[in-house]
Amino acid sequence: MVDFADFDSRNYPMVDIRTGYAGWAETYEQTVQDAMDLAVLDRLAVPHWDGARRAADLGCGTGRTGAWLRGRGVAAVDGVDLTPQMLDRARARGAHDRLVEADLAATGLPGAGYDLVVSSLVDEHLADLGPLYREARRLARPGGLFVLVGLHPYFIMAAGMPTHFTAADGAPTAIATHIHLVSEHLSAGLAAGWQLAEMREAVVDEEWIALKPKWEKYRSHPVSAAYVWRNPA
Ligand SMILES: C[S@@+](CC[C@H](N)C(=O)[O-])C[C@H]1O[C@@H](n2cnc3c(N)ncnc32)[C@H](O)[C@@H]1O
Repeated sequence: MVDFADFDSRNYPMVDIRTGYAGWAETYEQTVQDAMDLAVLDRLAVPHWDGARRAADLGCGTGRTGAWLRGRGVAAVDGVDLTPQMLDRARARGAHDRLVEADLAATGLPGAGYDLVVSSLVDEHLADLGPLYREARRLARPGGLFVLVGLHPYFIMAAGMPTHFTAADGAPTAIATHIHLVSEHLSAGLAAGWQLAEMREAVVDEEWIALKPKWEKYRSHPVSAAYVWRNPA
């Protein structure tokens, strides 16, 4: 287990998830980069998105992930999130059939009810990965997939940067951030009974540097990672 505090180079004041996303909800979509998650999802080979009749979107936020899934042909998406202000935006967007305010560790959604479970840009907020992998497994039907995409642990360490936003008063504010090494993902997924079907890592490339010229110093460093798990039973 690695502690983010050992890498923090910003020392922004840190708030809990609900407080942070309540403050970020209004500007979230102007700041999040599709290159971090959606571009990685686009490169995955195993999921046949348009074959999924129903997906669960854990940590659905403002509905970005749900809208992307619908755009790839997923017929119906249910979303779960802890932060009411993020859910309000998802509701206005209309990509989800059902939106639930809950912790992703205990969603209350039907067991074995989903062809696909997705979680995007959420895992760095979880102190422990076990509950996410276990709840995703409970939700997935036999043969169903769990796709997790998020910040690469190496990048959080190299940049020493927590997930953060600029609050209304102009102050940079960090949201509780945890580092999960790749081996923690593999251990948590295997312990929950998943089989790994695919894994991708994305690095800071020309596209990233065009978006963020200051990231030249991170050229070729891993920046995000995606895991595709299959429920064997
Ligand atoms: C960076 S946003 C990602 C939103 C969306 N998936 C996207 O990619 O744009 C992280 C979201 O995860 C939610 N979240 C964090 N921890 C959670 C938990 N334990 N249970 C449910 N939602 C959680 C936050 O409220 C926030 O809306």
